[in-house]
Amino acid sequence: MYCRKNSIIRKKILAYYENNKRDLPWRTEQDNNQNPYFTLVSEVMLQQTQVNTALVYYKKFIKKWPNLNSLAQANIEDVLTMWSGLGYYSRAKNLLKAAKIINQKHNGIIPEKYEDLICLPGIGEYTASAIVSFAFGKFSVVIDTNIKRFITRVNGLNKNDMVNKLKFNEIGKKMFPKSNSGKFAQAIMDFSSDICTKINPSCTKCFLKNYCKFDLSLEKNYERKKVKKKFSVVFFYIFKNKYFFLKKRDISGTLGGMYEVPGTAWQLKSWPKPYIKFKSISALTKTIRYKLSNTDLHTKIYKVNVKNKDDIKDSGIWVSKSDLEGFPLSVLTKKIIMYCMNEK
Ligand code: ADE
Repeated sequence: MYCRKNSIIRKKILAYYENNKRDLPWRTEQDNNQNPYFTLVSEVMLQQTQVNTALVYYKKFIKKWPNLNSLAQANIEDVLTMWSGLGYYSRAKNLLKAAKIINQKHNGIIPEKYEDLICLPGIGEYTASAIVSFAFGKFSVVIDTNIKRFITRVNGLNKNDMVNKLKFNEIGKKMFPKSNSGKFAQAIMDFSSDICTKINPSCTKCFLKNYCKFDLSLEKNYERKKVKKKFSVVFFYIFKNKYFFLKKRDISGTLGGMYEVPGTAWQLKSWPKPYIKFKSISALTKTIRYKLSNTDLHTKIYKVNVKNKDDIKDSGIWVSKSDLEGFPLSVLTKKIIMYCMNEK
């Protein structure tokens, strides 16, 4: 019975894909002979990002670094600049590191073996199995969050099962077709973004409803991730209404290597004390809000007019709006700059 059910699910998902496959630039007709470099870049970008957002960055990225060799020659600042706004910047750093290692250790050729791929920085089980099957056509049970959700629902798994990696692999092995597992994985991904969505899945019109153990009525009180409220204060030093001051973050750690408007650390519960004297602050421009997946950050911006650039003893650089294209900036930093520079 189980086997028959899996076989029906396979057929139906693949038939759905035949008619609804998204046209994505890294994909091929077969889904098992993709360019390994395109697969690597796209899957790293898609690790924490929706397809439509990643797509914009992917196109720019591939235009600038069309193959692994070109990426391996790039510098981190350019890669971070390209990645600006996409978030989770360690992905960009690891991708560059991986490209350099592949160039040195694997003669510039992306390895075909899962065991070699998994040793590369930023390549985990999911990305390694995606490359192995989407690019090299080998059987692999590819499990990302969408596929996990799909398996959970179809099989009526509970919360405890959700953390059991082995269970997903075991079920996946029976469900994934032996030939072209990559096509099946990408088919589930499209199905998951269209029908079996995380919130408000279209169960009533789903073609798998007779084969699926998911009960939407039990899912009504959808558990939201706990979001922590944090507070920070930044100082927008401005000279002659044109030049403003940016600091480079240390390369290791959160947002490492990115440029930012100097300020306090993000702190829980209450506003940090501004570390410069209020006398020199010309105006409190605004409090802005910036939402990350697990943080709701509130930032007070103080605009500080300086008479001389040398007044700022901190290490950093003075730039104008027209210089910004060459700098890696987070969405928050861009938001602060845009606000302060457009303000009358
Ligand atoms: N999400 C992660 N990888 C994907 C892919 N290859 N196609 C569509 N969505 C994805």
